[in-house]
Amino acid sequence: MTNAPLAAYPALRLRRLRQADWIRRLVRETVLTPADLIWSMVVHDGEGQVPVAAMPGVFRLSVKDAAAAAKEARALGIPAIAVFPHIDGAKKDAAGSLADDPDGLIARAVKAMKDAAPEVGVMCDVALDPFTDHGHDGLIENGRILNDPTIERLVAQGLMQAKAGCDILAPSDMMDGRCGVLRRALEAEGLQDVMIMSYAAKFASAFYGPYREAIGSGKLGTGSVENPGDKKTYQMDFGNSDEALREVALDIAEGADMVMVKPGMPYLDIVRRVVDAFAMPTFAFQVSGEYAMLMAAAQNGWLEEERAIMESLGAFKRAGAAGVITYFAPRAARLLGA
Ligand code: PBG
Repeated sequence: MTNAPLAAYPALRLRRLRQADWIRRLVRETVLTPADLIWSMVVHDGEGQVPVAAMPGVFRLSVKDAAAAAKEARALGIPAIAVFPHIDGAKKDAAGSLADDPDGLIARAVKAMKDAAPEVGVMCDVALDPFTDHGHDGLIENGRILNDPTIERLVAQGLMQAKAGCDILAPSDMMDGRCGVLRRALEAEGLQDVMIMSYAAKFASAFYGPYREAIGSGKLGTGSVENPGDKKTYQMDFGNSDEALREVALDIAEGADMVMVKPGMPYLDIVRRVVDAFAMPTFAFQVSGEYAMLMAAAQNGWLEEERAIMESLGAFKRAGAAGVITYFAPRAARLLGA
């Protein structure tokens, strides 16, 4: 027995609701389900599966395997797949000429996936970088990324994707005004049901590093006169948060149906602000570098792999995200019991 005065004890004991799994489950505020996942997937033009060295467990899939993966997504309850193309270096040029090729890899992959599993949504990046030899998302003139001429190419690319059967166009290029032009072009072509999920608040980030390897885009160059090796003249500065709200407001006004924040884990504050300010379906992209970081630590035995994966994904839901674009999607769905 203790003689301490009663007033010395806590009046409220928050630990009471943490004492057993059943009560923790009962009072849990947010939960992740397979329906929250968009499977980020890389396709290539060859046969079979090619491992991505910086992303253990991620493979570039052939078109045939991508179709099988779409069926797997359906079985796992994953609503949608975001597909990214690995393009042979020999097929790239400064203008990204093959970005709107109606017989190209993306068109074939989208068709194969929609044929295999029509119930699974397919999302395509609208951006030139997999197709440009310099790796930038836009056309370059005198060391500057051109805004409006790039948009013309993006519209051609987006229309090609939509005609191939893509359900969601995801402009990831960060050119000003591209959502509006894309939306008007879709309407004009009778493609009014095609959705736009804009990469609205996309930051110039070191965390996209492994993606370059995944899609075969080399070292960046010639993007601006003084500083050719990054995307800081079009992607956002990581010090900014109010500006993210202005980006999102513009994309909504231009006709985006859903918005995205990217990268994910280091930007959960932006996710929360966007959700609170706009009440729009807001997605977050857990990008290649986040995947690599978690896997590298896990493979060194420094993190408990499955717990860390599920905690990282659950945090997006707590921040208010409608869902997460992630390379962990099939694995997470299985861990959720799908
Ligand atoms: C292209 C694009 C990038 C990613 C998605 N679309 C790279 C970039 O903007 O440099 C990154 C995806 C990832 O890192 O997983 N605009």
